[in-house]
Amino acid sequence: MEIIHTPREMTAWANRTRAAAETIALVPTMGAFHDGHLALMRAAAQRADRLVVSLFVNPIQFGASEDLDRYPRNLKRDAELAAAQGTDILFAPAAEAMYPRGFATKVGVAGLTDTLCGASRPGHFDGVTTVVAKLFNLVKPQVAVFGEKDFQQLAVIRRMVADLAWDIDVVGHPIVREADGLAMSSRNVYLAPEERQAALGLSRALAHARQRVAAGETDTERLLAGVRQALLARPGVTIDYLSVVHGQSLVAQERIDADSVLLVAALVGTTRLIDNTPLP
Ligand code: PAJ
Repeated sequence: MEIIHTPREMTAWANRTRAAAETIALVPTMGAFHDGHLALMRAAAQRADRLVVSLFVNPIQFGASEDLDRYPRNLKRDAELAAAQGTDILFAPAAEAMYPRGFATKVGVAGLTDTLCGASRPGHFDGVTTVVAKLFNLVKPQVAVFGEKDFQQLAVIRRMVADLAWDIDVVGHPIVREADGLAMSSRNVYLAPEERQAALGLSRALAHARQRVAAGETDTERLLAGVRQALLARPGVTIDYLSVVHGQSLVAQERIDADSVLLVAALVGTTRLIDNTPLP
């Protein structure tokens, strides 16, 4: 595996690879790899001749009061893990290389970004779409793999790729969980032991909701009342949002149907966690 640090070398590699008629898969990340990231890499490696993993803690997608400064960083460990999944190129640019002096462009997706995480993290998704657009242009992938853990992010990127007519197959990967059900996240390292326990409330509440829908519940309000109660029974948990939406449009639904997805965002102590599940 080669580590590339500059956009210029990344483009040169992409051009050479395309000229050799080899296909490219991209997995964009912010590093601090866990098994969720590694599963995305292995899935992506199956889908193209060459695998590029980008590792960039993107400053413009963090709010002023968010965790940009303390976001976990460990390039050496991440490089070893990426190499072991069959990564050809780890693209790890500096912030000044991605956003040089004078950088003035923003890529934004309207509508889909107003709700859910977009409502409590203003500007977040513009930061995501701007960096992912730039990564697509630098890496020139035919395939890009994203996790369903960030369900809204995946929907927003699919919209962007369709709207801007990028010839890129956007592939969603199922959520990878710890043995006890907690969705893996780079932010789980912030959790103190008792918070780690309380955080289990998210996946437990979603699993319970899935069972109730399987047993015939179709009323969103009734379903959410139970989920809310289960979540708030955990110490130190506050709910940011709890919502049943249509899986593509992200429009809130009063009635649960085959396209419904239940999404939750909650603070456990000061750590913001998200999770979601399709409702059968
Ligand atoms: P990051 O949080 O590092 O996540 C990188 C990718 O891993 C995303 O597609 C995310 O959905 C996926 N992922 C994270 N945890 C997962 C889990 N438990 N199971 C499955 N997939 C999981 O998301 C970002 O970075 C950034 O916003 C980025 C897209 C890189 C733009 O900066």
